[in-house]
Amino acid sequence: PTITYIDHDGTERPIEAKNGETVMETAIKNSVPGIDADCGGACACATCHVYVEESFMDKVGQPEEMEQSMLDFAENVQANSRLSCQIQISDELDGLRVTTPESQH
Ligand code: FES
Repeated sequence: PTITYIDHDGTERPIEAKNGETVMETAIKNSVPGIDADCGGACACATCHVYVEESFMDKVGQPEEMEQSMLDFAENVQANSRLSCQIQISDELDGLRVTTPESQH
């Protein structure tokens, strides 16, 4: 599946992702800027915050309780905010577009 990462300034990076990996892992492996992932995917740092494109919100779903409480530590949280280490890639998410917040650049 292809995941497109969009910088806060609009730069788009389409990446060929592997099923089962997370949106965060795929970004780190491919040196996508804007995702720090200080905690390595343990849902404990909120530096992997992304905005999910509205049309994919249904497929990506809402954050679980633990992710939601960690999101409280992220900056500029919106209704489409998710922690990218908690989004697992599958064929269903092919074409997903996520924007990285300016604060993580
Ligand atoms: Fe730390 Fe996602 S990598 S919360």
